[in-house]
Amino acid sequence: MKESTYVKKTTGFLNKFDFDFVKKPFVFDELDSTNLSAKDLAKAGAEEGTVVIARTQRHGRGRFERSWESPEGGVYLSVILRPRVPHEKTSLLPFVAALAVAKTINAYGIHATIKWPNDVRVNGRKIAGILLESEGKGPAIDYVVVGIGINLAVDLMRLSTEIQSKSTSLQNEVHHPVDYYEFLKTFFMKFEHFYEIFKGQRYAEIIDEWKMYSDTLGKSVRVKTMTEILQGTAVDVDQSGFLLLWTASGETKKILSGDCLYFDELDHA
Ligand code: BTN
Repeated sequence: MKESTYVKKTTGFLNKFDFDFVKKPFVFDELDSTNLSAKDLAKAGAEEGTVVIARTQRHGRGRFERSWESPEGGVYLSVILRPRVPHEKTSLLPFVAALAVAKTINAYGIHATIKWPNDVRVNGRKIAGILLESEGKGPAIDYVVVGIGINLAVDLMRLSTEIQSKSTSLQNEVHHPVDYYEFLKTFFMKFEHFYEIFKGQRYAEIIDEWKMYSDTLGKSVRVKTMTEILQGTAVDVDQSGFLLLWTASGETKKILSGDCLYFDELDHA
């Protein structure tokens, strides 16, 4: 990890870091991006289960080169994984992470849903996002960094107006303070559970569970991919997490990745 990219001393926002899944924690007050630091560590040989976590990020990164606003009160973490499964199956790891986040939020009595592929939402407002970055040659995976941003106790007023209207935080939903450490404890337990299923190549179990949480299937959607914008009905996801979109021309398109908007929410999307 480059010296310039992180602040070493923490103010103790996370005094203990004792989670079974985590082999090695790197905890910082402030980073540019936990994903960038985790990638540096992974390239330098860091083992599976290494986790980088920061209280705030200067340049948090989102999907499709967007930024991820990262004021204090949020959870910003990146997990390094080195699963021995075919590379194309990494497309299911965001599902693993989204399920772990959604289930953790549900443990607070709040119903979280997942918008394909991996936006975790409460009452139609985004509460968490996931950014996966991986490296490998051919079918072999060298490393995967799963970056997760969760609006745990973020003061929504600190988010830009554009993001504010579409976001919520766990604290905003439960109406009482939420303990950061307790949240992480539940999250890592759930993450480990689904990651074990993933490593056991029991992909159907992950997809089936994901479908129970997703609010995408059956909806009229517009999906923006890197190359085109598609419209249709989201009919299913396949065993690699591709969205199956039934279009007006009667074709079913398979989409690996994209931004999904629901027609019934377009006015506030
Ligand atoms: C999204 O666009 O929805 C994905 C957002 C992912 C944000 C997290 S915060 C921790 C990790 N570090 C980053 O720079 N991004 C991810």
